[in-house]
Amino acid sequence: YNTKATKPTEPTRNGYTFEATVVGTKLAKVNNPECVPPGSLYDEARIEKLDDDTYQVFSVAKMWQFDPAAIEIPIGSQVDFFLISKDVVHGLNIAGTNVNMMAVPGAVNKFSYTFRKKCIFTVVCNEYCGSQHQAMVGQVVVK
Ligand code: CUA
Repeated sequence: YNTKATKPTEPTRNGYTFEATVVGTKLAKVNNPECVPPGSLYDEARIEKLDDDTYQVFSVAKMWQFDPAAIEIPIGSQVDFFLISKDVVHGLNIAGTNVNMMAVPGAVNKFSYTFRKKCIFTVVCNEYCGSQHQAMVGQVVVK
């Protein structure tokens, strides 16, 4: 947003009025992480295949691993990632993508991403979570 001074249509005491002008109306489409309502907490990690190119990954973060540690999906798949933590706050970042989620005890977070290139993506925890934080990694294999 920006503002610019404009000539008043009617005189004011100081001679000018100021009018807010919206300069940037086109914002990049942002895929914000969703917080899933209470009651949707799950206990066990699992992967569900909804159809040939849609998967749901129910991921569990805990010191110091992701469960599942690795997933394998075909190229072009959309993955809905759900994420919980069993202990402290962790992060889930898939390097080279905009998948960047927080794992918060007591909450379920969700983020969807479509994998459009064949790659072995590294999953890292990007919230400091204790002595083995740097070893908390996983993989997404897109074939
Ligand atoms: Cu988990 Cu850092």
